[in-house]
Amino acid sequence: MAVKSEPRNAGRRIITQEEAEAIAAKARPDQPPPVRKSRIKLTRREALAYALVGSTALTLATAGATLVQPDPSTDPFLSKFTPAVIQENVPGGFAYPRFKEGEFGGTFTLAKKAADYTTADPPDLNPTGKFYIVKVDQPVETAEGVVAQQGIQAIYQVCTHLGCLIPFQAAENRFICPCHGSTFERNSDYVRGPAARNLDQFVIEVAQDGTITVDTGQRRTGAPA
Ligand code: FES
Repeated sequence: MAVKSEPRNAGRRIITQEEAEAIAAKARPDQPPPVRKSRIKLTRREALAYALVGSTALTLATAGATLVQPDPSTDPFLSKFTPAVIQENVPGGFAYPRFKEGEFGGTFTLAKKAADYTTADPPDLNPTGKFYIVKVDQPVETAEGVVAQQGIQAIYQVCTHLGCLIPFQAAENRFICPCHGSTFERNSDYVRGPAARNLDQFVIEVAQDGTITVDTGQRRTGAPA
């Protein structure tokens, strides 16, 4: 009589993967549990579809932002970063940084009026704006023309050689750079040293009543020596 063979796993319970891991963890309590790999797998076609949807959404968002371009002067966030002149005159100007009145990069309205300065005074340093106000008989031209008004110049405090802050030496009546010795006249003209041009100047506005406004966002290059 033929003997009927039993199936190989007869009488045994098939355990799940989680149960197997739990048993293994109990057997080796000193070892951390195995890290499970993510079961999310994308086919190449699905990945391409997601990429296409993402790029389309980005394009639409950019186009929408352009169409409804906010007015930066009234926007509470953008108004902090956009100079008024750029907001008014340059499309997309809200992308530019904004400088406030009285901080370097912005405009400075000075307490002293034009009549308070004489051609004998030493240059008057504004350390925040990094410029000297100086009254001269004959304004010095920059490479872009004359920017002085009523004989008042705003001279940038930075040496035109390698950028050291340049002090005015009253005893010499000249600007003398402490770094490599470039020397400039009181009116910004180059005298000697490794610098290759006059000191730079900022655009200045002198109103009818003598109020002086210096725009440190508009620097004019000193003329070549
Ligand atoms: S940085 Fe002024 S002379 Fe060199």
